Amino acid sequence: MSAMNSNDLPDPMNLQLTPQGGLHHLLSLRGLERRLLSEILDQSEAYLSPLGDAPVRTNLLTGRTIANLFFEPSTRTRASFELAAKRLGADVLNLDVNTSSRKKGESILDTIYTLQAMQIDIFVVRDASAGVPAYIVDNVAPHISILNAGEADISHPTQGLLDLLTIRQCKGSFENLTVTIVGDIAHSRVARSAAEGLTTMGVGELRLVSPPALAPDPALMPQAVIMHDLDKGLRGADVVMALRIQRERIDDVQGIPGVEEYYARYGISHERMKLAAPDAIVMHPGPMNRGIEIESSLADSPQSVITRQVTNGVAVRMAILAAVMESRQSR
Ligand code: CP
Repeated sequence: MSAMNSNDLPDPMNLQLTPQGGLHHLLSLRGLERRLLSEILDQSEAYLSPLGDAPVRTNLLTGRTIANLFFEPSTRTRASFELAAKRLGADVLNLDVNTSSRKKGESILDTIYTLQAMQIDIFVVRDASAGVPAYIVDNVAPHISILNAGEADISHPTQGLLDLLTIRQCKGSFENLTVTIVGDIAHSRVARSAAEGLTTMGVGELRLVSPPALAPDPALMPQAVIMHDLDKGLRGADVVMALRIQRERIDDVQGIPGVEEYYARYGISHERMKLAAPDAIVMHPGPMNRGIEIESSLADSPQSVITRQVTNGVAVRMAILAAVMESRQSR
């Protein structure tokens, strides 16, 4: 399939829910109700145990098979989906894309059909092209679920959920919060999913701060305040999320600051965090570039919840795998 832009994409709302309102596929947080997001966050909490204890395990997915298809690099998302599936008792296939027959020209659908014939129940898909997860949904057997693990600059719904969970744990609720996301908003699927989830959960104020060349299309994030001055964006913020520049998605670097200028103007530091609320938390989806979008010692400080985000990622992915298998009973 050829790359699509955001306006050509099918509405994920029409694809991801069963007629009974259960989760069949997870393509986007857009259009998912607050009730459903809250249920997923609550279930995620049930899959957490203190670090150092044995992780929570169940046999909910025993006899089921999950295939991880990552056509873009990943550390956190891929590892956490694998751990999540194993902790639910499933078999896991991690397709090594570099040694798969896609390198010999096999299409993504033929790859899916081949693995579908091996009784895969859930495909976890990351791809650099917009529209791939929905395209697979349109063509896959109806008993199968597709989970979007990162789609171009469009959507990263499980990242959005783990960010919501982390914020809820630290702040209790969303209504009175000011959340500031800083960095390459234009190319960030993390920012898109966070904005969609936070808006649904009723966040008080969402600020998106970036250099002008990396600002989002306002139509894509109508509830957000788009800003270019970091100091103003940080003032009184309860949650500050730093993002890396997605250089792999940028063809024209015109107007994008170099590393030193970027850190000086948009880097999150201890000094700058004095502008935020005294109990503000610092987030980053990873992978992070220390000394570019975030001061290295801030990333490791008590204010940082970056490793907590990672821990929550496994729990959220367990909750999603469980939810799509549960909805299968009623499909
Ligand atoms: N946050 C995130 O998607 O990280 P990975 O690219 O390592 O999966």
